[in-house]
Amino acid sequence: MRTEGMKEYSNFTDSLDDFLKSFKSGNNESWRSQACKLVDGLASEELRRLVSIEARRDFGAFFTESALAEKVLRHSKFRLSRGSFCYDPACGAGNLLIAIVNVINQTKFKFSITDKVYGTDIHNEFVNATRLRLAINHLLRNDSEFDNAQLHRQICVADGLINNKFYEQATHVFVNPPYNVADANESLTWSKGKVSQAAVFMDKIIEFISPGTAITAILPDVLRSGSRYEKWRAIVNKTCRIEGLELLGQFDKYADVDVFAINLVKRKKALSLSVPTLLEQGANVEPEIMESSFDVCVGPVVDNRDPRKGQSLGYLVSKKLKDWSEINSLNLKRRHSGRSFKSPFVVIKRTSRLGDRHRAAAVIVNVPDPIYVDNHLIVVKPKSGRLNDCKQLLKILKDNRTNNWLNQQIRCRHLTVKILSKLPLWR
Ligand SMILES: C[S@@+](CC[C@H](N)C(=O)[O-])C[C@H]1O[C@@H](n2cnc3c(N)ncnc32)[C@H](O)[C@@H]1O
Repeated sequence: MRTEGMKEYSNFTDSLDDFLKSFKSGNNESWRSQACKLVDGLASEELRRLVSIEARRDFGAFFTESALAEKVLRHSKFRLSRGSFCYDPACGAGNLLIAIVNVINQTKFKFSITDKVYGTDIHNEFVNATRLRLAINHLLRNDSEFDNAQLHRQICVADGLINNKFYEQATHVFVNPPYNVADANESLTWSKGKVSQAAVFMDKIIEFISPGTAITAILPDVLRSGSRYEKWRAIVNKTCRIEGLELLGQFDKYADVDVFAINLVKRKKALSLSVPTLLEQGANVEPEIMESSFDVCVGPVVDNRDPRKGQSLGYLVSKKLKDWSEINSLNLKRRHSGRSFKSPFVVIKRTSRLGDRHRAAAVIVNVPDPIYVDNHLIVVKPKSGRLNDCKQLLKILKDNRTNNWLNQQIRCRHLTVKILSKLPLWR
């Protein structure tokens, strides 16, 4: 298979290599801030800067934004255990694998996770970038180096359309396959002419993995809705149980293609008859609600009850908070022995009235150090840790649908964590 065209990307991998070598234990803030960029959006920015659009289109090389990858993962209910083996057969610069590491790290997962992610790509430059970015991400999260030889065993150059040992070992596949269109191979049973390589790739993944393996895939919407892919959909229905499907809208601001996420589990035995399933109905299984993307709790400090003992930190109270603002510094301080919160997060005033213009008046907190929060406020922390998600949430809380929904759910003056956790995140 032809693989040239990505050579320029090695300028980026060289800089990753230099950066990794510059790590010294107890690394400083500027190292960390550059590391954060390198494991987040910079890999895609550099792809757009260094590689021509023709080459990117030829190989369907468009990297998934971390926010999208992490959102898809959270909704897919990826359940990992000590023996898990997560594989991306078209890993690009490793965005999906890094998302797995970061999402799983935020849970109570007891095992090391970097050694459970495996990836292949046909481009050597991307394979190198994935190894280096996983190593940088590991340093960033654990402050310790990851075994380089092990990374070389986990991330390799391979054609994902040909069977390999990773497919057989995988318990989970997370993939965003190339979307380029190419002539159908003569052996293809479900279409003739030009077909999306995403459908071809999915065919191969399903063929090669073991029964019981879970697949989470981000796919172009045409596979779900196009008449050309009717037979392909029937094959997927027969060979896999469809556990969830979510429409995601435009892939990103650079690639004008609508995408959806699907969760499949390969059946032990293919069905002989095709049954209508989510894939045909195209349904969004569950509306997204607050608790799927945010952790919600009441501020723990009861000022007139709790002793002023423990570490002295900034202390956020409800009084004088300007609705819909962003706080970047705090004057009030207090000692407390309970939980403190790291920015960014949102606080919602607990007390509101039925007639209030906004029932869930909120403020973004984005201060440098951890702070204590008073119990007249509800703390809403994005699982992603992103300021952007806080900003999106403020828009949702301001939305009239939120007022109407809350008025239906709660008649009394106090908002509760239980109800807020179920708030639909209106699109
Ligand atoms: C849509 S990108 C996704 C990359 C990465 N998984 C992500 O989401 O950021 C598709 C990737 O597939 C790779 N690719 C294309 N054909 C391939 C093949 N036959 N085998 C393995 N990788 C392939 C491209 O080089 C590209 O990196």
